[in-house]
Amino acid sequence: MSAQIEFERVSKRFILHRERSDSVQERVSGLLRPRARADEFWALRDVSFSVARGESFGLVGHNGAGKSTALKLMTRILEPTSGRVRIHGRVAALLELGSGFHPELSGRDNVFLYGSLLGLSRRDMAARLEEIVAFAGMAEFLDMQVKYYSSGMYTRLAFAVATSVDPEILITDEVLAVGDEAFQRKCMDRIFAFRQMGKTIIFVSHALDTVRTLCDRAVWLDHGTVRATGVAGDVVDAYLADVNRREREELARQDELAAALADDPRRRFGSHDVEIIGVELVGVDGAARTVFRTGEQVRIRIRYRARQVVPRPVFGLAVHHEGGLLLAGPNTRFAGFDIPMVHGDGAVELLVTALPLLAGRYFLSVAVYDETMLHPFDHHDRLYRLTVQNEGGRERFGVMALDGAWSWHVSGQ
Ligand SMILES: Nc1ncnc2c1ncn2[C@@H]1O[C@H](COP(=O)(O)OP(=O)(O)O)[C@@H](O)[C@H]1O
Ligand SMILES: [Mg+2]
Repeated sequence: MSAQIEFERVSKRFILHRERSDSVQERVSGLLRPRARADEFWALRDVSFSVARGESFGLVGHNGAGKSTALKLMTRILEPTSGRVRIHGRVAALLELGSGFHPELSGRDNVFLYGSLLGLSRRDMAARLEEIVAFAGMAEFLDMQVKYYSSGMYTRLAFAVATSVDPEILITDEVLAVGDEAFQRKCMDRIFAFRQMGKTIIFVSHALDTVRTLCDRAVWLDHGTVRATGVAGDVVDAYLADVNRREREELARQDELAAALADDPRRRFGSHDVEIIGVELVGVDGAARTVFRTGEQVRIRIRYRARQVVPRPVFGLAVHHEGGLLLAGPNTRFAGFDIPMVHGDGAVELLVTALPLLAGRYFLSVAVYDETMLHPFDHHDRLYRLTVQNEGGRERFGVMALDGAWSWHVSGQ
């Protein structure tokens, strides 16, 4: 088997155009204390691997590991800063949203443009158009400018076009993150069919089980460097082991931090008639952890101990952004959830069915007060951490996902 794609000690540097500091404070502190200049960034460093003809090859790694950058080097959207990228054969690529089509052109014009970039004539593309539109299932939007497409529509058309041009190499980046499940299945069927036909497939997805079943081999990128290359299942296992290890470390760090802070009377106070003896964030699998994804279910468990009978306690918590802002402060009384009395050990839980926080770091306070909410039994001020990752998620501005549905209404003339 000959190599169809070859990365030979490839590095890619981005030059960052830093924005000017916009607050007086920042400008002043910038004057006093010159900041380290970090205006270049190595997205890939000394990356080598090769993909044989007919092989299915996966790239895995955390957000920002360099996967998309590697794919853009394969499609020549980017040039390496050093090293060599060799590609043999016609490439069809389905990259991140927004990096394929021309937004001002209609879907139809984009189909022809895409074809011409791959050396296919207008006639060739016209012959394929019907099949493309049928696969994408969006005939009525074909003459609309692509900038008005939803991410789902965009992906549908992009996938249909990319796979219609009979490429030798198919590159897909996170295509399964958008679109409905039926369409995703259709896409996966087509990708598997490509594999059956002996085409070379480069696949990036957070669906690691799919990487395992689709790909023959894989590479694990970590902060732009290769951590492992080999049989896809082994590489996915190694990557997952590392993800789990990091989560455990984070959990241990949080315990230490909480233990150290809990001795600080400003961070933990109250009469201790009821004591909070443990706080856990429990995932849908029943395991406690501190790293969650946007939209995931989280069960916030407050374990308590009451050495005597305490009537009508109020349990509550507060979620703070790491910047200090209080985002939410629910408690059992506001919710009308009455606890007649506590005695002995127990737990009070708040079930959050879909975590609305976007990627970031958050702190949790938990507390139990008397029924007037004036006297703390035990108050833990921001002693617990919650990290939210937004892998594969679309929303990235702000701190919360606003659960809503868009609609569009055109006014009459
Ligand atoms: N055009 C760019 N300019 C500056 N930095 C970039 C650019 N593209 C990507 N990066 C940075 O390079 C790193 C790798 O990004 P990317 O390849 O998209 O990672 P992944 O796809 O694995 O999440 C990230 O830190 C990202 O912010
Ligand atoms: Mg990416």
